[in-house]
Amino acid sequence: MQVKILDKEDVSNIKPGRYLVSSDDPRYFSLISLPNSKILDSRSAEDGRHTLAIVEIGANKMRQVSNPPETKAMGMDPSFFSSAKREYVTWQDKWWREAIQNSVDAGATDIICKIIRSGNDTDTKYTIICEDNGKGMDRETVIEKFLAFGGSGKRDEVGKTGGFGKAKELLLLPWINWTIWTGDLIIKGKGNTYVEERAPSFKQGVVLVVTMGAGADDHTKESNAINVITRSYLPHVKFTVNGKVYRSDLEGSKTTVQPKTDKAEMYVSSRGIEGFEEYGIVRVNGLYMHSFYIGEGFEQIPIIEVTAPSIEVLSVSRDSFRDYDLKKAVDEVIKKIMIDKKSALKKKENLFIRKYKGRTSEYERDSSLSEIESLIHKNIGKFSQPTKITKTGIVLDETVVQLLKIVSDQKVQAGGDSFENFISNISGESAEAMMEIDFQSESHMEAAVKSLIWQPSFYIENEIPGYYPDQKFFPETMSSRIYMLAKTWLELVRFVNIQMGGRDRFMVGFIFSRDYKALYRRDNEGDQMILLNPFKFKDGKVTNDNYTQSSDDDLRTLYALAIHECTHMIHGLSYHDEAFASAMTDAFAMCMPGVKKIQRIVNGIRRLKDRK
Ligand SMILES: Nc1ncnc2c1ncn2[C@@H]1O[C@H](COP(=O)(O)OP(=O)(O)OP(=O)(O)O)[C@@H](O)[C@H]1O
Ligand SMILES: [Mg+2]
Repeated sequence: MQVKILDKEDVSNIKPGRYLVSSDDPRYFSLISLPNSKILDSRSAEDGRHTLAIVEIGANKMRQVSNPPETKAMGMDPSFFSSAKREYVTWQDKWWREAIQNSVDAGATDIICKIIRSGNDTDTKYTIICEDNGKGMDRETVIEKFLAFGGSGKRDEVGKTGGFGKAKELLLLPWINWTIWTGDLIIKGKGNTYVEERAPSFKQGVVLVVTMGAGADDHTKESNAINVITRSYLPHVKFTVNGKVYRSDLEGSKTTVQPKTDKAEMYVSSRGIEGFEEYGIVRVNGLYMHSFYIGEGFEQIPIIEVTAPSIEVLSVSRDSFRDYDLKKAVDEVIKKIMIDKKSALKKKENLFIRKYKGRTSEYERDSSLSEIESLIHKNIGKFSQPTKITKTGIVLDETVVQLLKIVSDQKVQAGGDSFENFISNISGESAEAMMEIDFQSESHMEAAVKSLIWQPSFYIENEIPGYYPDQKFFPETMSSRIYMLAKTWLELVRFVNIQMGGRDRFMVGFIFSRDYKALYRRDNEGDQMILLNPFKFKDGKVTNDNYTQSSDDDLRTLYALAIHECTHMIHGLSYHDEAFASAMTDAFAMCMPGVKKIQRIVNGIRRLKDRK
């Protein structure tokens, strides 16, 4: 058959025949990849730079349809598996990281690591074992998740570190052979081939056994397991390496300098690790991922805790970040650490929150509430029935006021003299002043009574790094002036709440801050606190002076702060936007008449204190 030189033919419609084609022809690859093409001959052209090929185009392009080829998986050369370890920086550590991570994610509390040398000088082998007491795997999970490339049972699980389904490439494939024993199943493998066997007994959890070679880069060591364990913080897991117990307790405190991202936080360890002085650590859920160099001059170890899902932000081998923002933010803090060794790693010291429980438990509060309600019912018939209706609203009957006074006073008598009782109880005089208001409705009145007998917990929070509040602010050692301030704050908040018809339960307390005069906060548990910064502000800056109840100015400021924070609470508004401004206007209108009562409320507090 004649060989034609490939001229202006359109490759997709080329006629059967033999063609001479040069490799620098743009159609070369299209031509040779046609299903009906076959290279008959090829040789280098004289200039040595390209190839000339004779390609035969068969007559029947469709021949494969009549005889479709069976689908085959790409073959894998065993050397492919042994190269997997090269994807990991210091794979010797990472083998343990992957094994431990799977165990920890499976809920293990006991992880036993063993490295056993066997054979003689000419034929040495290492048996590496990681045994856990986690939830183990059923057959389906082993076969479809653990023994499948990319298989992972953790994609949607929060709090799990894995999710790449990649670990087996390092855990199993590169080694001489491997065995998994879980439940009553034993799987023995070599590369990506394996056989299943029935186990002689049931194994709770998983035992992973891998045989590794003797060369320096062929096996992992005891020290590698210890590295991973001691650079992590997994306090609930007991680790044993070749019979010796190791603690995974490298705890950290938050530092003042933080990466500018919500995907990671920086901590500093309380101690260093010998031989690991010049490095920082990246961890996920407390487990060591990789290290970064920071140079000498550090006693403690900076720790970057990744808080975003690792599958989103870490590289597949978990040796680096693939999230650009995170990488940038972490690079920046590392740079800061290196330049400004001491201050960047300063602990966020003394940041704390303390809660002093109110006198009564939730249950008792409810029962004391109904106790008062029934008392009121008994004395004035139906509590919810207004006793006097005026033009401006409903006014509590003299009897109710008297009664509230008695009830409050009784509570004071019964309360003993602990801080909690003092802060919880209310004097009859204060109660009376608070309840002499015009109620807008019966439910307003009911809410008011509930607020009146509410016994809040006391709360202290410091958010100034490195500052430690004086002992006079703590209930155990509180000075009488601060006592008065705490109590005044509580009663003003209570009074505002009563006037505004608030029904929420709240705590009161102090916040130590450079930014806030007072703060409303709702925590994760739904507890609400209305906190006062006991230090006055001047020209927008916090001073060293505390508010006192003997100053009318101070009292008015406290009252205004209470109105502001109660508006946040009652309207559930956290921002100072238009909705808040409008709610504030109403709140001020509502609470304006109350200003006249502040003095009476404070007098009541004084008398309560004197009686103590
Ligand atoms: N020790 C173990 N105990 C219980 N289940 C395990 C254990 N090891 C592996 N598995 C199961 O096998 C699955 C695959 O594990 P593998 O380590 O390959 O992937 P992964 O942990 O999900 O993701 P990654 O590649 O990020 O580690 C896991 O999701 C888990 O369901
Ligand atoms: Mg894993």
